[in-house]
Amino acid sequence: MDKFLIKGPCKVKGTVNISGSKNASLPILAASILFDEMVEIKNLPNVRDIDTMLSLIKSLGFNVKQNKNSNSVVIKKSKKINTFASYSLVKTMRAGILVLGPLITKFGKAKTSLPGGCLIGARPINYHLNALKKLGMNYKIEKGYVNAFAKSKLTGSNIFFPKISVGATENAILAATLANGKTILKNCAIEPEIKNDLTNFLNQAGAKIKWVGKRTVEIKGVKSLKKISYSVMGDRIECGTFCVAATISKGNLKIKGFDPKLINTELNLLKKVGAKIKINEKLLSIAGPEKIKPIKNIVTKEWPGVATDMQSQLMVLMCRANGKSTITENIFENRFLHVGELQRLGADIQVKKNKAIIRGNTKFVGAEVMSSDLRASVALVLAAMISNGKSTINRIYHLDRGYEKIEKKLTKIGVNIKRIS
Ligand code: EPZ
Repeated sequence: MDKFLIKGPCKVKGTVNISGSKNASLPILAASILFDEMVEIKNLPNVRDIDTMLSLIKSLGFNVKQNKNSNSVVIKKSKKINTFASYSLVKTMRAGILVLGPLITKFGKAKTSLPGGCLIGARPINYHLNALKKLGMNYKIEKGYVNAFAKSKLTGSNIFFPKISVGATENAILAATLANGKTILKNCAIEPEIKNDLTNFLNQAGAKIKWVGKRTVEIKGVKSLKKISYSVMGDRIECGTFCVAATISKGNLKIKGFDPKLINTELNLLKKVGAKIKINEKLLSIAGPEKIKPIKNIVTKEWPGVATDMQSQLMVLMCRANGKSTITENIFENRFLHVGELQRLGADIQVKKNKAIIRGNTKFVGAEVMSSDLRASVALVLAAMISNGKSTINRIYHLDRGYEKIEKKLTKIGVNIKRIS
């Protein structure tokens, strides 16, 4: 298994190009199942989760031509489609469940593996299943699979999500796109990957999706979708991660390839701790302060709140603050796995249920640590790059799921990092 060797401390300096968004790409790739015509998707990040989703779509019988050099893929429906999404593919990438909505609305049947839990939480799919049921899907869960079928075309319906869920909102939008009649979804997740990218992609292909309220979307079913070529938005979390890198290392970065207003909440938080941030058009410049001020209580929330996927990175930032702070994780039930590893690097953090109390003024010292999930791993990279001495970060396959060429991008801005295979 690959690992990273990092020698700190370092200051990051230079320009970073943000890759395409993993979490915008995954539902858009799943949406390609809805098409009879060809779909071309560009600005696709070369990360493992994308490879897994493309393997899944290929396993359903679609022709998939990926061009890694141009970060693009062309997907075309073949004559022989099957509607079986296997455990082997879905277990490594929970977003595989996003093929359920498209399969059932397009082909009237699907056998998809339950995603299963992961380290950060149980990851149930009850909101997905209840929404699809309201649209006319019948299903039985047997031996870890959802066996779904629909006697006829799905029928539009009014659906209220009891809890805001990114995946359930995406699955319901995908299913309603080809259903008969009108669907109204209420209490939706409104992350930019959904409200901007997925909506724009489908509407450009002829869907009729209209956001009629803050968290309410109206979808008028259409018969079919047109051929489309679409470029995915930049990765919001990768951009936020590099902003934290500049802030904790007293560095200076110019960040391109992402629309900075989509991480306003996190940028305001970084300004509060002392970072100097300038935005003109799509270029974001950020300089880290001499002193990092603590934030009394950082609370993760659904967008537009502080993103849960930024929580571990912000914890590293608060370790460097000159005072005490707390971080409350409201989205996942077990998303503090990075705490133990940060403590090995010298952090003083106490966890009480979903609250972490961070002492601050940590002088990180290099050590050997272990990645546990995608975002926890990048927090370890951030802490290691400002630690005194050498660190080894094990199991970085977690990182490869969601950060494209991260060691190349970090080396380019002055981090002493090597991948050991
Ligand atoms: C998406 O996961 C993202 N993944 C996650 O990013 C992100 O952390 C999460 O949204 C929250 O923003 C992708 O977009 C591929 P949810 P998702 O449904 O859709 C519970 C990363 O690092 N829930 O909004 O699974 C659930 O357990 C990943 O890129 C139910 O109880 O998140 C969680 O506690 C990690 N029943 C909460 O809701 C359901 O049917 C929010 O989950 C669905 C969700």
